[in-house]
This record gives sequence, structure tokens and C-alpha cells, in this order.
Amino acid sequence: MRLTVNGKAHEVDVEDDMPLLWVLRDELGLTGTKYGCGIAQCGACTVHMDGIAVRSCQVAAATADGTEVTTIEGLGTPAALHAVQEAWVEHQVAQCGYCQSGQIMQAASLLDMNPEPTDEDIDIVMSGNLCRCGTYPRIRAAVKTAAQKLQEA
Ligand code: FES
Ligand code: FES
Repeated sequence: MRLTVNGKAHEVDVEDDMPLLWVLRDELGLTGTKYGCGIAQCGACTVHMDGIAVRSCQVAAATADGTEVTTIEGLGTPAALHAVQEAWVEHQVAQCGYCQSGQIMQAASLLDMNPEPTDEDIDIVMSGNLCRCGTYPRIRAAVKTAAQKLQEA
């Protein structure tokens, strides 16, 4: 399959039904995207495929063929963080951190689709990404800060 990940073209020789999550982690070494449940329930594996948040554990390699994927490694850089990443740092959202790359990718997608989300909008979308540490109040605050940053940019 051919795919572009974080702006870089790749060609990988994998089975059609290999989950995109394993293509990213095992074939391309991008381990920022996490494995949680493997059944589309937790959101730890969330990446953007052609600009849409998807659960990479449930996207087959054949489906991802020819697409453009962005992972947490490509959302921003240490020198130029994405607004969501900046807000996450400001609010110290992460506890154990395991769910957080998925949370950040989901939050960035939410703000792409809805630049001024209400508390309810945020809760509805972000509660689909499971956080066993219960960071949801800080996630909500950080999404609001990120929304403000993006509007001011
Ligand atoms: S690992 Fe993909 S949704 Fe949980
Ligand atoms: S920060 Fe620990 S599971 Fe979310």
C-alpha cells in the first residue's frame, strides 16, 4: 500500500486487512498512536485520515491505501506546537498520558469541524475517547483554550 503520513510518502508491503494502527506503529515506527481496546471503543488509536478523525485499529490497510494520514507526531512540532497541544500543556491535561495522543487528535478534529464548541459539544465528542484517569474537566478547559487560540491566530 501507499500512503502519506505526516506529509511523507510511504510504500509498505502488508496484508490488506492489517489495521492502520499496526502499519503506523510496526511498519513506520510511529508509536505515538496507542493501542487500547482494538475494537473501536476507546479512541486511544485516533489519527486523522484525509482530515477526518478515525480509529486506526479499525481501518484496514486496504482502506487507508492512497490516503493522507496525520498522527500525533505530525500535528505540531516541539518548536511549533499545534494550538491543541499548547492548550494541553497549559492545562496540564495528561495524567498517565496513555489516552492523550488520541484525545488530542480527536480534539483537533472537533475544532476543525466546530471552531466554537459549547461545553455540551465538547463533552459529547470527547467522552467517546476513554480516559481512565478522568481528565475530562481539563480536556474541556483545554479545548476551549485551543478554540480561542485558533480564532486569534
Ligand atoms: S484501540 Fe482503537 S479504539 Fe481502542
Ligand atoms: S490520562 Fe490516563 S487514561 Fe487518560
